[in-house]
Amino acid sequence: MAGWRKIVTIITLSMTPPKNIRRIGVLTGGGDCPGLNAVIRAVTKTAILQYGIEVVGIEDGFQGLIDDRVRPLTSRDVAGILVRGGTILGSNNRCNPSKYHVGNDEHGAPIFRDMTERCVETAKRHRLDAIIVIGGDGTMSAASHLVDKGLNIIGVPKTIDNDIVGTEISFGFLTAVATATDALDRLHSTADSHHRVMVCELMGRNAGWIALTAGVASGSDVILIPEIPFDFNPIFAFVNDRMSKGPGFAIVVVAEGAKQKSGEQIVARIDPTSPDPIRLGGIGAFVAKNIEKACNVETRTTVLGHIQRGGPPIAADRILATHFGYHAILTLMAGGHNRMVVRENNIFSDVDLLHAAGKQRLIPIDHGLISAGRAMGTCFGDSVPHLHFSKSKPAVVV
Ligand code: F6P
Repeated sequence: MAGWRKIVTIITLSMTPPKNIRRIGVLTGGGDCPGLNAVIRAVTKTAILQYGIEVVGIEDGFQGLIDDRVRPLTSRDVAGILVRGGTILGSNNRCNPSKYHVGNDEHGAPIFRDMTERCVETAKRHRLDAIIVIGGDGTMSAASHLVDKGLNIIGVPKTIDNDIVGTEISFGFLTAVATATDALDRLHSTADSHHRVMVCELMGRNAGWIALTAGVASGSDVILIPEIPFDFNPIFAFVNDRMSKGPGFAIVVVAEGAKQKSGEQIVARIDPTSPDPIRLGGIGAFVAKNIEKACNVETRTTVLGHIQRGGPPIAADRILATHFGYHAILTLMAGGHNRMVVRENNIFSDVDLLHAAGKQRLIPIDHGLISAGRAMGTCFGDSVPHLHFSKSKPAVVV
């Protein structure tokens, strides 16, 4: 066969859907993040245009499967959503079908019920041959109970925290880093003007990826991450040096999960009805209070919060999300069963869906960006950086 004919045959064959995949669902679970819509678009367009598969959208994560809130998605429905933040389907970070909160008993204790059968019935009613589940480790754990009941689920890793095991990056992370970096740049100029210490608390749960990356990108002076428990003494010494011998201000980035060597993480609230009941928060104010007292310097705190999750994805996240969505459908059409798409060493592939369930990918403490940060003179709260704040010598005029 002539070479080009062979290529045409291969392409035609690859575009013929396996007979058992005619209709699929897509849902977004867990906290939202920039790029969800870009994945929904890529999944929908690839399924419809490349393979002639029907697509339906499931509203508000697994809640839509429980309530039977499912609507058709056409190419037209997803036109223009690539650049939009949030998710057109809605999301939910409180719904685990196998442990679904249905109310409280007379003592106020939560009552849970297993709703996985209800989800499976909805999937059958809508003749779904597979569901594309876009979510983080909690969503993948929840999905595993539906897999046990026979559903075929292809996962797409989502989170600004960048802490999903098996993939070197999740979409949404780079946009959160860009937003945080912009905030830190702004804090920089006001810190400089007022000769203050500015503490900025960033998200990330138990991982410090956002704080580390935005901290280095903004040239921040102190970066505190959960992976490196800190002592106050090196921070105080460093801040004192910067105030007296250095530029006279300091930017301190604190991941919400950061903790002292001697202490625990600071918890903002506990919700026993949520699959992930702990919400971290408050470490920024704690660090600021201690610096202000020990260093006798005016200190302010900013908690960036959900601003890191909102708004349009940056170009890199649009591309990543498009790759992931496209690859999810390729994986399904190649016969994939209960897989999660990933990127490792810049190559897209897939791993077992449960690979990431209930785990977190933390920063290795020998990570190159930590070393690079240290080389820039950044204090990570475990030692005082070797810095020489000498006044620059006047230029010699000849
Ligand atoms: O996992 C994403 C994330 O934004 C974390 O960084 C943060 O700790 C948590 O979600 C906040 O959750 P919620 O939206 O429930 O406040």
